[in-house]
Amino acid sequence: MNLVSSDVFVSDVDRERFGAKTARIIGLTAEGLSSTLNFCAKEKIALLIARCNLSDLEAAQAMEKEGFLLMDTLLYYNIDLIRQAVPDDHGVAQVRPIRADEEDEMIAVAEESFRGYLGHYHADQRLDNDQCDEAYADWAHKAFTSRSSDNFLAGEIKGRIVGFGVLRMNNPDEGEMFLGGIHPDFQGQGIYHSFLCKAMEWCLSKNAKKMVISTQLKNISVQKVLMKFGFEISRGYYTYHKWFDQFASD
Ligand SMILES: CC(C)(COP(=O)(O)OP(=O)(O)OC[C@H]1O[C@@H](n2cnc3c(N)ncnc32)[C@H](O)[C@@H]1OP(=O)(O)O)[C@@H](O)C(=O)NCCC(=O)NCCS
Repeated sequence: MNLVSSDVFVSDVDRERFGAKTARIIGLTAEGLSSTLNFCAKEKIALLIARCNLSDLEAAQAMEKEGFLLMDTLLYYNIDLIRQAVPDDHGVAQVRPIRADEEDEMIAVAEESFRGYLGHYHADQRLDNDQCDEAYADWAHKAFTSRSSDNFLAGEIKGRIVGFGVLRMNNPDEGEMFLGGIHPDFQGQGIYHSFLCKAMEWCLSKNAKKMVISTQLKNISVQKVLMKFGFEISRGYYTYHKWFDQFASD
């Protein structure tokens, strides 16, 4: 997700996933808070997912005064593809475009790798944990359905899918691996390293000048790999949730 908007919108995807009418806003400011709350009242929103810039503590504190709860901290890392060479791929797994008949196997990997994940859904005690797990599998399913010929990568070891990674161009200069996971049985072997190598090559093949990855502040494993590749932190967001009990069914 390339976060730039500052408009509040109803999120049909989240409503589908959790059964609660949900709105989202990215880049919320203290000044924009009251109009956002008015929108939620008018639209009978049960859950508002609001992100503010990491440097905007005024917005964070304004949300806290209104009873918003902090759910995660999202960080963006960039790598300059012109200056940084693609490292050697250790080749623990063969990373290549996924095949049409591999969706079920990939979804099983998505379910296992994101079970109990570190993001804002799982951090919200009012959301059902199993539905939070399913949200990531659903995201992977939607990405698979709308994939092009080469932007959905699978990692294979001895005929088994052990990881996946989904790529896109955000603009002509910037590529992103926006979703990826390694099956827990295969973590810690350098497979994500291979995915990043292939992701950088894919971005270069599309003439991108940089590649971005977003992750959670708590996701140490990913950040360790990103640092070794030469990724640099560029920006971040606090993610808050605000429940409106009068419109929530539970
Ligand atoms: C994060 C993730 C993609 C890393 O994949 P991976 O193939 O295990 O990564 P690597 O083997 O290249 O190793 C990453 C680093 O984290 C460490 N690490 C990986 N898994 C770990 C684990 N379960 N516990 C402790 N450390 C771990 C590795 O030791 C390595 O550090 P090192 O190079 O200093 O030894 C994988 O753990 C995963 O799928 N997690 C759940 C979903 C997720 O976080 N997706 C990415 C969202 S941005």
